[in-house]
Amino acid sequence: MSPSQDRDALKRMAALKAVEYVRDGMVVGLGTGSTARHVLELLGKRVSAGLAIRGVPTSEETADLARRAGIPLLSYEETWSIDVAIDGADQVDPQLNLIKGGGGALVREKIVAAAARQLIIVVDHAKLVPVLGNSYPLPVEVIPFGWPNTARRIEALGGKAVIRERRGRIFTTESGLYILDLHMGQIDDPAALEIQLNRIPGVVENGLFVGQTDLLIVGTQRGVEVQQAAKQ
Ligand code: 5RP
Repeated sequence: MSPSQDRDALKRMAALKAVEYVRDGMVVGLGTGSTARHVLELLGKRVSAGLAIRGVPTSEETADLARRAGIPLLSYEETWSIDVAIDGADQVDPQLNLIKGGGGALVREKIVAAAARQLIIVVDHAKLVPVLGNSYPLPVEVIPFGWPNTARRIEALGGKAVIRERRGRIFTTESGLYILDLHMGQIDDPAALEIQLNRIPGVVENGLFVGQTDLLIVGTQRGVEVQQAAKQ
């Protein structure tokens, strides 16, 4: 098995555990990315077997996959009362703070996570880090108007903000925004940085999810590990 297939198998193993937390009648926040895809497929199987849930998707890709898996969806316009949101992450620190947004859906993911009574994060063990940042850039979703100025203000906090591109063009998120990937090394105080970034005019959201995770489910070579957040 190649290392990426191996990691994918661990993500699936963890996803299998995560869907056990979904019960009949729940409204479920549906994340985006390769781990979330496993969750959708496994939830779809439970729905086919009679589980009655409704989903809130964090991207169009997730909405399509959910529909194909037979998961009924709530619309973007209604007020959701989300029982549990299940999503992946790019990095997780020992306090269960996260970097998310590698897939470019971070604003929607953060809105859904904030609306959920419980946030379950599903990862393979390679996502666990002692400190956030370092080799992984922090995605910041910004308004296109004046983005180079916004980038300079972000860089004043430290690091280099690189506009995300796809196939040689600036990548636009489903919310019509751009992403600046901030390479700033180690993030010593994620809580402070999350607030500082969101104060900059033009920044809509950043990929730091601080104090939001309730449960972390990790796929490891030894099996699945479940960690409850120590919340105040
Ligand atoms: C998308 C995300 C994803 O959860 C994150 O990038 C992890 O992706 P994957 O499950 O494919 O490893 O934040 O915006």
